[in-house]
Amino acid sequence: MKRIGILTSGGDAPAMNAAIRAVARKAISSGLEAYGINYGFAGLVAGDIHKFEATDLDNSIDTGGTLLYSARYPEFAQEEGQLKGIEQLKKFGIDALVVIGGDGSYHGALRLTEHGYNTIGLPGTIDNDIPYTDFTIGFDTALNTAVDAIDKIRDTAKSHQRVFAIQVMGRFAADIALWAGVASGADAVIAPGFDYSVEKIANKLKKNRANGKDYGLIVIAEGDANSDAAPEFIDQLKQYGDFDARATVIGHVQRGGVPSARDRVLASKMGAYAVELLLEGRGGLAVGILDNKVQAHDITDLFDAKHQADLSLHQLAEDLSFK
Ligand code: F6P
Repeated sequence: MKRIGILTSGGDAPAMNAAIRAVARKAISSGLEAYGINYGFAGLVAGDIHKFEATDLDNSIDTGGTLLYSARYPEFAQEEGQLKGIEQLKKFGIDALVVIGGDGSYHGALRLTEHGYNTIGLPGTIDNDIPYTDFTIGFDTALNTAVDAIDKIRDTAKSHQRVFAIQVMGRFAADIALWAGVASGADAVIAPGFDYSVEKIANKLKKNRANGKDYGLIVIAEGDANSDAAPEFIDQLKQYGDFDARATVIGHVQRGGVPSARDRVLASKMGAYAVELLLEGRGGLAVGILDNKVQAHDITDLFDAKHQADLSLHQLAEDLSFK
């Protein structure tokens, strides 16, 4: 093996650049060449590929977004798309790949391995929704962005004695909501996997008010991309009492920004490990971190598994939020 290709796919996540840097630098320091593939699988098919020199990745570890750009490219699910991609790999003499992205990207990684191009997947998504890893690259930064936003909202909520429903990202996953809910001391967390009653939350807010806490923070998972979960909750809440209430959708700000140190270290560890796996001639694997140990699992195992958020955080948020 001489040349490794790197691409990012799906939604961008903070510290993807740290992961790209780790793969490229580990490859170069192991005597290999590293090639960046722009725009994910779409760029692979189009041959938008360039060689990384060692210095190309200076000043990348602290940057947000993905310097390789990203794209959603469902066409790669078809054999025709895969064969076009393979033609490009042959043309550039790339023998193996690292794909950084969500679980959608792992299907492409598996197909390439089946075609004889060992490919390793790295979990890059703010949603933390990938099985066989406790954390994904980007989750920690997005969580901190969400908590920072909620802290700021608390200032205005207190000043105006208002209730805010704050919608965080995560698509179908509850992780950002659960962690942000505990970290910000929310009065309630609404997240996939948990039943809730708007009436009960309204009663709790009223009790809080009677006990001297005259503002409220409800953290709410979007539950689906770009949903209206928070505004809908506020509409319902107003039916149960006289609340001065607002909805805030934090939105795509959670996807950007300077990556946290924790995300940078995670990305660096995972990127370097991916190259080690390729050097051992292994492919079709997804890298994860479990109990603080970076490890790899067959990508096919991930398809049969479901990510499990730390559900205990929901009760914890509830237990600590009384007034
Ligand atoms: O998967 C990352 C994510 O930011 C989700 O949290 C969110 O639901 C979705 O992507 C938004 O997608 P888009 O950027 O296509 O609007």
